[in-house]
Amino acid sequence: MSEKRIISAELSPEDKAQENSLRPKTLNEYIGQKKVRDNLSIYIKAAKERGEALDHVLLYGPPGLGKTTLAGIIAEEMGTRLKVTSGPAIERPGELAAILSGLAEGDVLFVDEIHRLNRQVEEVLYPAMEDYAIDIILGKGATAKSIRLDLPPFTLVGATTRAGLLSAPLRDRFGVVSHLEYYSEDELKTIIKRSAGVLDVSIDEEGAHELAKRSRGTPRLANRFLKRVRDFAQIEFDGVITAEVADHALSLLEVDKNGLDGNDRKILLILIDHFKGGPVGVDSLAATLGEDPGTLEEVYEPYLIQKGFINRTQRGRVATAKAYDSLGRVMPESE
Ligand SMILES: Nc1ncnc2c1ncn2[C@@H]1O[C@H](COP(=O)(O)OP(=O)(O)O)[C@@H](O)[C@H]1O
Ligand SMILES: [Mg+2]
Repeated sequence: MSEKRIISAELSPEDKAQENSLRPKTLNEYIGQKKVRDNLSIYIKAAKERGEALDHVLLYGPPGLGKTTLAGIIAEEMGTRLKVTSGPAIERPGELAAILSGLAEGDVLFVDEIHRLNRQVEEVLYPAMEDYAIDIILGKGATAKSIRLDLPPFTLVGATTRAGLLSAPLRDRFGVVSHLEYYSEDELKTIIKRSAGVLDVSIDEEGAHELAKRSRGTPRLANRFLKRVRDFAQIEFDGVITAEVADHALSLLEVDKNGLDGNDRKILLILIDHFKGGPVGVDSLAATLGEDPGTLEEVYEPYLIQKGFINRTQRGRVATAKAYDSLGRVMPESE
């Protein structure tokens, strides 16, 4: 799926500036994800009481659900500094060693897209996470020596959309592993109303509800739609986002009633037209889409499965009646 997602949950440049102003800063402002929030709140309290660094935290789940936001909140709640980097940004072991040796006691190091760290860089992390130390190799060949450099206790927060790509030794070194889930309509509605307040946008209950319903369980999309729909409200209506305004604007943005985007529909179309509704193995489905099976499984499919458009069976993926219905097709009678 090389075409850009119409409502891709990935971060786009225009989101970036405003995204920061909409990010909750504390656990209390962070809406939903109750289990993750409750657990983190206990771990943070306990670590603070002991005067220790928080255990390393791995956050995983589809894009736009609040991983980066949580990393900032963890640093804020611990009362420490946040240092941000990402897997693809660190090319050499020495670069990571430099970042690590620049940390102060209790600092939070956020590594986004941690599954994209290369192997040699990753190996620097093992002793750093386990023993707060890095091993530095001096010299070459037979005369090479390794010396150990101590680091201050710190917290690594890793984020990934592709937990399946994480190596076992890396995954095992995280004391806290949290999976972020899609948000309910009610939670999204709360997020939308909060964002509308921050951005000074007028929206009524039904308008917030309509946006929430069509945001694919994803706060980043909810906020993006809010901003786009606000423009329609301002120019073509009287400034207030109502259900009618939201529906009008979102239809123009090609988000359907179920909040499915172009790629969601493409997956369902291929499943239904090309594979007669399944069952089909994830590898064949991914190959036909031109996508890698892991991305299909971890990034695109979870929402479709959670919302009951696709069933995961022993024999493969199967399109449900709801999938046929959403594309305006009639499901064939089963024999
Ligand atoms: N639990 C939440 N409550 C309120 N807003 C949220 C929440 N999670 C995410 N957001 C909003 O969604 C946007 C995207 O979240 P982000 O943390 O960047 O997602 P990720 O890193 O998982 O892709 C943030 O700017 C924030 O405004
Ligand atoms: Mg992020």
